[in-house]
Amino acid sequence: MGRWDGWFTVEHHEVHSHARAGRLHTPHGVVETPVFMPVGTQAAVKTLSPHELHQVGAQIILSNTYHLYLRPGSQVVAEAGGLHRFMAWDRPILTDSGGFQVFSLAALRQVTGDGVRFRSHLDGSEHFFTPELSMAVQRDLGADIIMCFDECLAYPARRDEVEASVERTTRWARRCHRAWQEDGDPDRQALFGIVQGGAYPDLRRRSAEELAELDFPGYAVGGLSVGEPAGVTVAVLDVTVPLLPAGRPRYLMGVGTPDLILEAVWRGIDMMDCVLPTRMARHGTVYTSQGRITVRNAAYARDFGPLDPACDCYACRHFSRAYIRHLLKVNETLGMRLTTIHNLRYLQRFMERLRQAVREDRLPEFRAAFYREEGAALG
Ligand code: GUN
Ligand code: ZN
Repeated sequence: MGRWDGWFTVEHHEVHSHARAGRLHTPHGVVETPVFMPVGTQAAVKTLSPHELHQVGAQIILSNTYHLYLRPGSQVVAEAGGLHRFMAWDRPILTDSGGFQVFSLAALRQVTGDGVRFRSHLDGSEHFFTPELSMAVQRDLGADIIMCFDECLAYPARRDEVEASVERTTRWARRCHRAWQEDGDPDRQALFGIVQGGAYPDLRRRSAEELAELDFPGYAVGGLSVGEPAGVTVAVLDVTVPLLPAGRPRYLMGVGTPDLILEAVWRGIDMMDCVLPTRMARHGTVYTSQGRITVRNAAYARDFGPLDPACDCYACRHFSRAYIRHLLKVNETLGMRLTTIHNLRYLQRFMERLRQAVREDRLPEFRAAFYREEGAALG
């Protein structure tokens, strides 16, 4: 038995789909899957305290190597005793590798065989990121789950570009695996490989097979949510998820509208993250049991009911749509805090209902009811 055999236990396979219910065992506790991970890019889920994250039921959060490397620097976080201590969050954390952020945020990128040279989006300073540096930074941050340094292309991309990017991602994954084994904390931090390959089924297969040879503790599907239509996202999942080792957790990166979460879970995905629910909340858009509404709109100026009558969150138990709209209009930060609490609670309850439906073999009924009652206005 290897160290990572048995760290993820699949407890039930839903009979009508490829969905499964399971548990991830980490040094900071157990995570029930399928799970949605709120995003705390800069070591905070924007506007919320760890206490509030506990209250909405968040099991695990995501943070970003790229941002924390630039500010405050991974050395500061290491001196604080790691990311958990630094931000006072005692449940599991996953850090992304910087791969995606270097490609989406940084300027003047230059990819070489060794790594990526880029300028910081903050002050223009020059940096060189390599698989080894990403592993060293993620070791300093000390998350429970860390990610390989990969290359993520935008959609659409030419086949020859995607092929070169898959080759590079595999080479970098081998270097990440070696650095994790030799200089990392391979008994406490689970390293995930990231499958690339764009919308090309054979390149997805090649990427998945090359990564599987390295026997990672988990596998992610990357390169999605990069501008492709939802039909392409789902088609890529259809061909990619069956290629991932069944006994390992499967993480779909950056995908997070409720309808796509549902379709991903149906196809066998266990973990997801997305900035959308928290970002939308700060712009005044909230999920409800009757679909999405923009509470900032004039229509809610005299609506004295809660954001969602079916929700048990702090915002819905105490405040009206009219009051929250007012806070957002006058730029009181409490407004964004309340909509963020609500959206994260909505998604957490959505995942609880989803896990229950998986465990009780009711996923087709759950999916039909969702599209009938909630999904129609979700987009
Ligand atoms: N977040 C969303 N997509 C990706 C991806 O392809 N790679 C990484 N590292 N992070 C992501
Ligand atoms: Zn609520």
